[in-house]
Amino acid sequence: MNHARIIGTGGHLPEKVLTNADLEQRIETTAEWIVERTGVEERHIAAPGETTCDLAEHASRRALEAAGLEPSDIDLIVLGTTTPDHVFPSVATQLQHRLGCPGGPAFDVQAVCTGFVYALDIADRFIRTGAARRALVVGADTFTRIIDWRDRGTCILFGDGAGAVVLEAADKPGIIDSRLGADGRYKELLWVPAGVSSGYDQTRQNAAFVEMRGSEVFKVAVTTLKDIAEQILTANRMTVADVDWLIPHQANRRILAATAKRLGLPEGRMVDCVRTHGNTSAASVPLALDVAVRDGRIQRGDTLLLEGFGGGFTWGAVLLTY
Ligand code: UT7
Repeated sequence: MNHARIIGTGGHLPEKVLTNADLEQRIETTAEWIVERTGVEERHIAAPGETTCDLAEHASRRALEAAGLEPSDIDLIVLGTTTPDHVFPSVATQLQHRLGCPGGPAFDVQAVCTGFVYALDIADRFIRTGAARRALVVGADTFTRIIDWRDRGTCILFGDGAGAVVLEAADKPGIIDSRLGADGRYKELLWVPAGVSSGYDQTRQNAAFVEMRGSEVFKVAVTTLKDIAEQILTANRMTVADVDWLIPHQANRRILAATAKRLGLPEGRMVDCVRTHGNTSAASVPLALDVAVRDGRIQRGDTLLLEGFGGGFTWGAVLLTY
Protein backbone atom coordinates (compact mmCIF):
# COMPACT_ATOMS: atom_id res chain seq x y z
CA MET A 1 0.00 0.00 0.00
CA ASN A 2 2.68 2.55 -0.82
CA HIS A 3 0.79 4.52 -3.40
CA ALA A 4 -2.14 6.95 -3.33
CA ARG A 5 -4.99 7.12 -5.81
CA ILE A 6 -7.94 9.45 -6.32
CA ILE A 7 -11.20 7.69 -5.46
CA GLY A 8 -13.60 10.64 -5.63
CA THR A 9 -13.79 14.24 -6.84
CA GLY A 10 -16.11 17.13 -6.00
CA GLY A 11 -16.55 20.77 -6.88
CA HIS A 12 -18.62 23.75 -5.88
CA LEU A 13 -19.22 27.18 -7.38
CA PRO A 14 -21.18 29.93 -5.63
CA GLU A 15 -24.60 30.67 -7.07
CA LYS A 16 -24.07 34.26 -8.14
CA VAL A 17 -22.70 34.68 -11.66
CA LEU A 18 -20.92 37.85 -12.79
CA THR A 19 -20.91 38.24 -16.57
CA ASN A 20 -18.72 40.36 -18.79
CA ALA A 21 -21.80 42.49 -19.50
CA ASP A 22 -22.01 43.15 -15.74
CA LEU A 23 -18.36 44.21 -15.73
CA GLU A 24 -18.97 46.59 -18.65
CA GLN A 25 -21.23 48.50 -16.24
CA ARG A 26 -18.50 48.78 -13.58
CA ILE A 27 -15.24 49.46 -15.39
CA GLU A 28 -13.96 50.76 -18.71
CA THR A 29 -13.89 47.56 -20.72
CA THR A 30 -15.83 45.59 -23.29
CA ALA A 31 -17.08 42.00 -23.22
CA GLU A 32 -15.23 41.45 -26.51
CA TRP A 33 -11.90 42.59 -25.04
CA ILE A 34 -12.28 40.29 -22.03
CA VAL A 35 -13.18 37.25 -24.15
CA GLU A 36 -10.45 37.88 -26.71
CA ARG A 37 -7.66 38.47 -24.14
CA THR A 38 -8.71 36.01 -21.43
CA GLY A 39 -11.40 33.60 -22.67
CA VAL A 40 -13.49 34.37 -19.57
CA GLU A 41 -17.22 34.95 -20.21
CA GLU A 42 -18.50 34.66 -16.66
CA ARG A 43 -17.29 33.85 -13.16
CA HIS A 44 -18.98 32.90 -9.89
CA ILE A 45 -18.83 35.23 -6.88
CA ALA A 46 -19.34 34.24 -3.24
CA ALA A 47 -22.37 35.89 -1.62
CA PRO A 48 -21.84 38.28 1.31
CA GLY A 49 -21.09 36.08 4.32
CA GLU A 50 -20.30 33.03 2.17
CA THR A 51 -16.74 31.98 3.00
CA THR A 52 -13.94 29.81 1.67
CA CYS A 53 -14.85 27.14 4.27
CA ASP A 54 -18.47 27.12 3.03
CA LEU A 55 -17.31 26.45 -0.54
CA ALA A 56 -14.78 23.87 0.64
CA GLU A 57 -17.42 22.02 2.65
CA HIS A 58 -19.75 21.65 -0.37
CA ALA A 59 -16.93 20.42 -2.61
CA SER A 60 -15.65 18.03 0.07
CA ARG A 61 -19.06 16.47 0.70
CA ARG A 62 -19.42 15.86 -3.05
CA ALA A 63 -15.97 14.26 -3.23
CA LEU A 64 -16.79 12.02 -0.25
CA GLU A 65 -20.09 11.02 -1.83
CA ALA A 66 -18.34 10.18 -5.12
CA ALA A 67 -15.81 8.10 -3.17
CA GLY A 68 -18.59 6.29 -1.28
CA LEU A 69 -17.03 7.30 2.05
CA GLU A 70 -18.18 8.90 5.29
CA PRO A 71 -16.28 11.86 6.79
CA SER A 72 -15.18 9.55 9.62
CA ASP A 73 -13.13 7.59 7.05
CA ILE A 74 -10.86 10.64 6.55
CA ASP A 75 -7.65 10.81 8.60
CA LEU A 76 -5.93 13.80 6.93
CA ILE A 77 -7.12 17.13 5.48
CA VAL A 78 -4.79 19.33 3.43
CA LEU A 79 -6.34 22.47 1.97
CA GLY A 80 -4.80 25.00 -0.41
CA THR A 81 -6.05 28.56 0.02
CA THR A 82 -4.92 32.18 -0.03
CA THR A 83 -8.20 33.55 1.28
CA PRO A 84 -8.86 31.78 4.60
CA ASP A 85 -11.93 32.70 6.65
CA HIS A 86 -9.68 33.85 9.49
CA VAL A 87 -6.00 34.58 10.05
CA PHE A 88 -6.27 31.49 12.24
CA PRO A 89 -7.46 28.82 12.83
CA SER A 90 -6.95 27.29 9.42
CA VAL A 91 -9.82 26.54 7.06
CA ALA A 92 -8.80 22.86 7.17
CA THR A 93 -9.45 22.57 10.92
CA GLN A 94 -12.85 24.25 10.56
CA LEU A 95 -13.71 22.01 7.61
CA GLN A 96 -12.73 18.99 9.69
CA HIS A 97 -15.02 20.20 12.50
CA ARG A 98 -17.96 20.77 10.14
CA LEU A 99 -17.55 17.35 8.58
CA GLY A 100 -17.30 15.83 12.04
CA CYS A 101 -14.05 13.87 11.68
CA PRO A 102 -11.77 15.19 14.45
CA GLY A 103 -8.37 13.86 15.44
CA GLY A 104 -6.23 13.60 12.32
CA PRO A 105 -3.94 16.37 11.10
CA ALA A 106 -5.63 19.22 9.21
CA PHE A 107 -3.77 22.21 7.81
CA ASP A 108 -3.81 24.87 5.11
CA VAL A 109 -1.16 25.30 2.43
CA GLN A 110 -0.36 28.75 1.06
CA ALA A 111 0.93 28.55 -2.51
CA VAL A 112 -1.68 30.82 -4.13
CA CYS A 113 -2.90 29.32 -7.43
CA THR A 114 -0.60 26.30 -6.96
CA GLY A 115 -2.19 25.58 -3.56
CA PHE A 116 -4.09 22.47 -4.60
CA VAL A 117 -1.12 20.94 -6.43
CA TYR A 118 1.07 21.55 -3.35
CA ALA A 119 -1.65 20.02 -1.12
CA LEU A 120 -1.95 16.96 -3.37
CA ASP A 121 1.81 16.39 -3.34
CA ILE A 122 1.89 16.64 0.47
CA ALA A 123 -1.09 14.31 0.99
CA ASP A 124 0.44 11.78 -1.41
CA ARG A 125 3.61 11.74 0.72
CA PHE A 126 1.59 11.20 3.93
CA ILE A 127 -0.15 8.23 2.33
CA ARG A 128 2.98 6.72 0.79
CA THR A 129 4.74 6.76 4.18
CA GLY A 130 1.74 5.21 5.92
CA ALA A 131 1.05 8.33 8.02
CA ALA A 132 -2.44 8.59 6.54
CA ARG A 133 -4.76 6.20 4.77
CA ARG A 134 -7.52 8.36 3.38
CA ALA A 135 -6.98 12.06 2.76
CA LEU A 136 -9.27 14.88 1.76
CA VAL A 137 -7.35 17.31 -0.46
CA VAL A 138 -9.02 20.62 -1.20
CA GLY A 139 -8.36 23.78 -3.19
CA ALA A 140 -10.70 26.61 -2.17
CA ASP A 141 -10.61 30.37 -2.58
CA THR A 142 -12.83 33.43 -2.40
CA PHE A 143 -10.24 35.33 -4.39
CA THR A 144 -12.72 38.03 -5.42
CA ARG A 145 -12.55 39.28 -1.80
CA ILE A 146 -9.00 40.52 -2.43
CA ILE A 147 -9.73 42.00 -5.85
CA ASP A 148 -9.81 45.74 -6.43
CA TRP A 149 -12.99 46.10 -8.50
CA ARG A 150 -11.62 49.34 -9.98
CA ASP A 151 -8.61 47.53 -11.46
CA ARG A 152 -9.62 46.33 -14.91
CA GLY A 153 -6.38 44.39 -15.31
CA THR A 154 -7.32 41.94 -12.52
CA CYS A 155 -11.06 42.06 -11.76
CA ILE A 156 -11.95 40.56 -15.15
CA LEU A 157 -10.00 37.37 -14.49
CA PHE A 158 -10.91 35.98 -11.10
CA GLY A 159 -13.83 34.02 -9.64
CA ASP A 160 -14.58 32.00 -6.49
CA GLY A 161 -14.94 28.24 -6.01
CA ALA A 162 -13.70 25.03 -4.41
CA GLY A 163 -12.63 21.61 -5.63
CA ALA A 164 -11.73 18.50 -3.66
CA VAL A 165 -10.46 14.96 -4.11
CA VAL A 166 -10.34 11.96 -1.80
CA LEU A 167 -7.03 10.10 -1.89
CA GLU A 168 -6.76 6.52 -0.68
CA ALA A 169 -3.81 4.19 -0.10
CA ALA A 170 -3.44 1.69 -2.95
CA ASP A 171 -1.17 -1.10 -4.15
CA LYS A 172 -0.33 0.66 -7.42
CA PRO A 173 -0.43 4.27 -8.66
CA GLY A 174 -2.52 6.43 -8.56
CA ILE A 175 -0.12 9.26 -8.30
CA ILE A 176 2.94 8.37 -10.34
CA ASP A 177 5.08 11.44 -9.57
CA SER A 178 4.83 15.04 -8.45
CA ARG A 179 7.21 17.99 -8.65
CA LEU A 180 6.93 21.31 -6.82
CA GLY A 181 8.93 24.51 -7.19
CA ALA A 182 9.10 28.15 -6.20
CA ASP A 183 11.10 31.32 -6.84
CA GLY A 184 10.44 34.24 -4.51
CA ARG A 185 12.23 36.78 -6.66
CA TYR A 186 8.98 37.31 -8.59
CA LYS A 187 7.05 38.52 -5.53
CA GLU A 188 6.02 41.90 -6.90
CA LEU A 189 4.71 40.64 -10.25
CA LEU A 190 1.68 39.15 -8.48
CA TRP A 191 0.97 39.95 -4.83
CA VAL A 192 -1.11 41.61 -2.14
CA PRO A 193 1.20 44.21 -0.59
CA ALA A 194 -0.69 44.25 2.72
CA GLY A 195 -0.19 41.64 5.40
CA VAL A 196 -0.62 40.71 9.04
CA SER A 197 3.04 41.20 9.89
CA SER A 198 4.03 43.90 7.41
CA GLY A 199 0.87 45.87 8.17
CA TYR A 200 -1.69 47.71 6.14
CA ASP A 201 -0.39 50.82 4.45
CA GLN A 202 -3.19 53.32 4.95
CA THR A 203 -1.66 55.68 2.42
CA ARG A 204 -2.19 53.21 -0.42
CA GLN A 205 -5.81 52.84 -1.34
CA ASN A 206 -5.40 49.40 -2.85
CA ALA A 207 -2.91 47.99 -0.35
CA ALA A 208 -5.15 45.06 0.64
CA PHE A 209 -5.84 43.97 -2.94
CA VAL A 210 -4.15 41.88 -5.59
CA GLU A 211 -1.63 43.73 -7.73
CA MET A 212 -0.48 42.05 -10.92
CA ARG A 213 1.87 42.90 -13.78
CA GLY A 214 -0.26 40.80 -16.12
CA SER A 215 1.81 40.51 -19.26
CA GLU A 216 4.99 39.69 -17.29
CA VAL A 217 3.16 37.00 -15.30
CA PHE A 218 1.75 35.68 -18.55
CA LYS A 219 5.20 35.05 -20.06
CA VAL A 220 6.62 33.25 -17.00
CA ALA A 221 3.42 31.20 -16.67
CA VAL A 222 3.56 29.86 -20.22
CA THR A 223 7.27 29.01 -20.04
CA THR A 224 6.94 27.36 -16.62
CA LEU A 225 3.84 25.32 -17.48
CA LYS A 226 5.61 23.95 -20.54
CA ASP A 227 8.90 23.26 -18.73
CA ILE A 228 7.41 21.45 -15.73
CA ALA A 229 5.25 19.25 -17.96
CA GLU A 230 8.29 18.21 -19.97
CA GLN A 231 10.41 17.67 -16.84
CA ILE A 232 7.95 15.36 -15.10
CA LEU A 233 7.23 13.40 -18.29
CA THR A 234 10.91 12.96 -19.13
CA ALA A 235 11.71 11.86 -15.57
CA ASN A 236 9.08 9.13 -15.93
CA ARG A 237 10.15 8.11 -19.45
CA MET A 238 6.88 9.37 -20.90
CA THR A 239 5.96 11.86 -23.61
CA VAL A 240 3.01 14.15 -24.25
CA ALA A 241 1.54 11.34 -26.35
CA ASP A 242 1.11 9.32 -23.13
CA VAL A 243 -1.05 12.02 -21.52
CA ASP A 244 -4.80 11.56 -22.00
CA TRP A 245 -5.73 14.81 -20.25
CA LEU A 246 -3.74 17.91 -19.35
CA ILE A 247 -5.38 19.89 -16.54
CA PRO A 248 -3.47 23.15 -16.20
CA HIS A 249 -4.21 26.01 -13.82
CA GLN A 250 -7.11 27.89 -15.41
CA ALA A 251 -5.48 31.33 -15.54
CA ASN A 252 -6.30 32.59 -19.01
CA ARG A 253 -7.44 30.82 -22.19
CA ARG A 254 -4.44 32.23 -24.08
CA ILE A 255 -2.03 30.77 -21.47
CA LEU A 256 -3.70 27.36 -21.83
CA ALA A 257 -3.60 27.49 -25.63
CA ALA A 258 0.05 28.62 -25.71
CA THR A 259 1.04 25.86 -23.25
CA ALA A 260 -0.71 23.15 -25.29
CA LYS A 261 0.86 24.45 -28.49
CA ARG A 262 4.39 24.52 -27.06
CA LEU A 263 3.95 21.00 -25.71
CA GLY A 264 2.54 19.74 -29.01
CA LEU A 265 -0.60 18.59 -27.21
CA PRO A 266 -3.91 18.83 -29.13
CA GLU A 267 -6.19 21.30 -27.33
CA GLY A 268 -8.91 18.63 -27.32
CA ARG A 269 -6.88 16.76 -24.67
CA MET A 270 -6.75 19.74 -22.32
CA VAL A 271 -9.51 20.51 -19.81
CA ASP A 272 -10.51 24.17 -20.16
CA CYS A 273 -13.06 25.71 -17.78
CA VAL A 274 -11.83 29.29 -18.13
CA ARG A 275 -14.95 30.42 -20.00
CA THR A 276 -17.34 29.78 -17.11
CA HIS A 277 -15.06 29.66 -14.04
CA GLY A 278 -12.48 32.38 -14.63
CA ASN A 279 -9.36 31.98 -12.50
CA THR A 280 -10.46 30.47 -9.18
CA SER A 281 -6.90 30.32 -7.77
CA ALA A 282 -6.32 27.14 -5.70
CA ALA A 283 -9.72 25.77 -6.78
CA SER A 284 -9.01 25.93 -10.49
CA VAL A 285 -7.29 22.55 -11.01
CA PRO A 286 -9.57 20.37 -8.80
CA LEU A 287 -12.67 22.10 -10.21
CA ALA A 288 -11.56 21.40 -13.78
CA LEU A 289 -10.73 17.81 -12.83
CA ASP A 290 -14.17 17.34 -11.28
CA VAL A 291 -15.95 18.82 -14.31
CA ALA A 292 -14.18 16.45 -16.71
CA VAL A 293 -14.72 13.42 -14.46
CA ARG A 294 -18.42 14.13 -14.09
CA ASP A 295 -19.05 14.82 -17.80
CA GLY A 296 -17.36 11.51 -18.64
CA ARG A 297 -14.32 12.86 -20.50
CA ILE A 298 -11.92 11.46 -17.89
CA GLN A 299 -12.20 7.69 -17.52
CA ARG A 300 -10.63 5.27 -15.03
CA GLY A 301 -7.16 4.31 -16.24
CA ASP A 302 -6.55 7.62 -18.04
CA THR A 303 -3.18 9.31 -17.57
CA LEU A 304 -3.61 12.84 -16.22
CA LEU A 305 -1.13 15.69 -15.89
CA LEU A 306 -2.16 18.38 -13.40
CA GLU A 307 -0.27 21.68 -13.40
CA GLY A 308 -0.33 24.68 -11.08
CA PHE A 309 1.25 28.12 -11.31
CA GLY A 310 0.76 31.05 -8.97
CA GLY A 311 2.06 33.99 -6.96
CA GLY A 312 5.51 33.72 -5.41
CA PHE A 313 6.04 32.37 -7.99
CA THR A 314 5.08 28.81 -7.12
CA TRP A 315 4.51 25.94 -9.50
CA GLY A 316 3.95 22.22 -9.51
CA ALA A 317 2.92 19.20 -11.58
CA VAL A 318 1.29 15.91 -10.64
CA LEU A 319 1.30 12.92 -13.00
CA LEU A 320 -1.24 10.23 -12.22
CA THR A 321 -3.33 7.35 -13.41
CA TYR A 322 -6.95 8.14 -12.68
O1 UT7 B 1 -3.24 32.88 -11.51
C1 UT7 B 1 -1.92 33.33 -11.59
C2 UT7 B 1 -1.53 33.58 -12.95
N1 UT7 B 1 -2.15 34.76 -13.51
C3 UT7 B 1 -2.02 34.94 -14.79
O2 UT7 B 1 -1.46 34.07 -15.40
C4 UT7 B 1 -2.51 36.20 -15.45
C5 UT7 B 1 -1.64 36.45 -16.63
N2 UT7 B 1 -1.93 37.66 -17.39
C6 UT7 B 1 -3.04 37.81 -18.15
O3 UT7 B 1 -3.93 36.99 -18.15
C7 UT7 B 1 -3.07 39.00 -19.06
O4 UT7 B 1 -1.83 39.67 -19.00
C8 UT7 B 1 -4.21 40.02 -18.79
C9 UT7 B 1 -5.53 39.43 -19.22
C10 UT7 B 1 -4.23 40.40 -17.34
C11 UT7 B 1 -4.00 41.29 -19.62
O5 UT7 B 1 -3.91 40.97 -21.00
P1 UT7 B 1 -2.71 41.52 -21.89
O6 UT7 B 1 -2.98 41.07 -23.25
O7 UT7 B 1 -1.43 41.05 -21.24
O8 UT7 B 1 -2.89 43.07 -21.77
P2 UT7 B 1 -1.87 44.16 -21.22
O9 UT7 B 1 -1.79 44.09 -19.72
O10 UT7 B 1 -0.59 44.10 -21.98
O11 UT7 B 1 -2.64 45.48 -21.61
C12 UT7 B 1 -2.91 45.80 -22.97
C13 UT7 B 1 -3.85 47.00 -23.00
C14 UT7 B 1 -3.44 48.11 -22.04
O12 UT7 B 1 -3.71 49.35 -22.69
P3 UT7 B 1 -2.51 50.24 -23.32
O13 UT7 B 1 -1.60 50.51 -22.16
O14 UT7 B 1 -1.91 49.36 -24.36
O15 UT7 B 1 -3.25 51.42 -23.83
C15 UT7 B 1 -4.37 47.95 -20.90
O16 UT7 B 1 -4.61 49.15 -20.21
O17 UT7 B 1 -5.14 46.59 -22.59
C16 UT7 B 1 -5.61 47.46 -21.58
N3 UT7 B 1 -6.50 46.74 -20.68
C17 UT7 B 1 -7.81 46.63 -20.88
N4 UT7 B 1 -8.63 47.10 -21.84
C18 UT7 B 1 -9.93 46.81 -21.76
C19 UT7 B 1 -6.17 46.04 -19.57
N5 UT7 B 1 -7.28 45.48 -19.03
C20 UT7 B 1 -8.30 45.84 -19.83
C21 UT7 B 1 -9.69 45.57 -19.80
N6 UT7 B 1 -10.46 46.07 -20.79
N7 UT7 B 1 -10.25 44.83 -18.83
